[in-house]
Amino acid sequence: MTAAAFARSLAEAEERLRAAGLTGADAFRALRDTLLHRVGRDGEPHDALVDLALPAADLDLLGLAYERFFPDLFKGRLGQFFTPRSVVRLLLARLPDLAGLDVLDPTCGSGGLLVLAGRAGARVRGLDVDPRMADLAGVNLALAGVDGEVRRADFFAAEPEPADVVVANPPFSVPLRDRAVLDRYAFGQGAERVASDVLFLEALEGWVKPGGHAALVLPWTVVANGSMAAVRDRVDAHWCRRGLCALPEGVFRPFGGAAGRAALLWLQRRPAEDGFMEWAELEDPGYDTRSTRLTPTDDAEVEALAAGRGWRPVAGWLPPTVVAEGPALASWVTSDTTTTAGGPGQVTIDLADTDRSTGEVRPRTVDNHGRRAVLRGGQVLVARMRPELGNVCLVPEGLEAVGSPEWIRLEAPWPHYLLHALRAPSWRASLPPTTGQTRPRTDADTVLATRVPRPSEPVLAEVEALSAHLLREREALRARLAALEHAVHAFVAGGPEAELAEAVARLSEG
Ligand SMILES: C[S@@+](CC[C@H](N)C(=O)[O-])C[C@H]1O[C@@H](n2cnc3c(N)ncnc32)[C@H](O)[C@@H]1O
Repeated sequence: MTAAAFARSLAEAEERLRAAGLTGADAFRALRDTLLHRVGRDGEPHDALVDLALPAADLDLLGLAYERFFPDLFKGRLGQFFTPRSVVRLLLARLPDLAGLDVLDPTCGSGGLLVLAGRAGARVRGLDVDPRMADLAGVNLALAGVDGEVRRADFFAAEPEPADVVVANPPFSVPLRDRAVLDRYAFGQGAERVASDVLFLEALEGWVKPGGHAALVLPWTVVANGSMAAVRDRVDAHWCRRGLCALPEGVFRPFGGAAGRAALLWLQRRPAEDGFMEWAELEDPGYDTRSTRLTPTDDAEVEALAAGRGWRPVAGWLPPTVVAEGPALASWVTSDTTTTAGGPGQVTIDLADTDRSTGEVRPRTVDNHGRRAVLRGGQVLVARMRPELGNVCLVPEGLEAVGSPEWIRLEAPWPHYLLHALRAPSWRASLPPTTGQTRPRTDADTVLATRVPRPSEPVLAEVEALSAHLLREREALRARLAALEHAVHAFVAGGPEAELAEAVARLSEG
């Protein structure tokens, strides 16, 4: 069952609930009872839901169903949203073999992590402070055929029952104020309130056996913000960091979560052997992170990371900032900020019109609304949003276009050299890390303050000429390939072979 088909069957089930006049808590109960009935554990099926089209194979996506049906019921105070299943897969894939181990999710929500851990052969147990969630996780495990125990408990107040492995997506940045709870923890001493992430990491120390593992989803602030330095120091004192994967902004958006950034963190409880941590950055989690709807994309990147490709060893929490040599860009590059009104039929270059692997652009003609940036041929465009991922491109010579005001527009006497230099991994790594949790972005001043070495003028001139020539050649090759494809398409559609042969002959001449 693909995510798209699942989303369709959810939409149908949602429609039926609405038609039956079931909303809010009533709908939740009706759905839960019907599902329990389906797996033979009590429950009275609700007439409207008897043949509910819920897929049998992928019912661990049930959390998503509840989230879609009852957003108001679950969102808010307790940091409740559901963990994308591709993220769960990656989280579990980077743990040691779970078969036979005792795995706990102390803030289990709909139980998605437990379902996958159970399928990997673990004995699973879960806690959630919200009885409805504990209930929901129980249903989810039963539907997935995973044996496990889920009970209602407040993780911060409960007596630790250490596990071999803890997996968790705890509530993000919820302020905790209960005096009795705060007094149990070093970070709570004398404080009026402490963020849930901070207390979670401290409390976790008691819940994992020595040498045991934890795999966590945490807000990016824990990884990168200066105010969290003491928390990171404490983690390093009690654990060995094994892995850290930066997640893209908006990773929880289709699942009802905030737009903030997050990271996956793998820890091993001391005593354990120290060593370098593996670092990676996930760009595409297998769905569109810009949309609140679940729109599947390609999950090749998650698969690669899960299989161990794309990681590099890092000593600290973040990869080291490269200290670049050379003059600051501001000494030879200027930035342009001209804007114009949107209008009908404008040649447009937005981020989606660029090829991140080459820095080329494919302008479109579209009707624009609102203010647009004026783009001129020869400008190098740097996306404010995450340029460290290579969102840098070149406006073709002679082109006049408009584009997103999110572009930082750079002008230099050697645009091709600038394009290639700003796409270099070492330049990208030299950008100061973006620390804002929501919509982390850079700005023109930050980019202009970076340093870029510059070769002598004769070499620069050669780089310019050669790059312009190669780009033109690539464009021509692309056009020939498109013409060849077109000719084959015409033949497949029933056209004469002679026409195909003629096209091939013409194209092979160059
Ligand atoms: C982000 S959700 C977990 C999502 C889950 N991994 C999933 O995929 O469905 C966080 C969960 O923590 C629970 N929670 C919040 N505070 C808690 C506490 N003090 N003890 C236990 N669970 C808590 C919330 O009820 C919520 O279900």
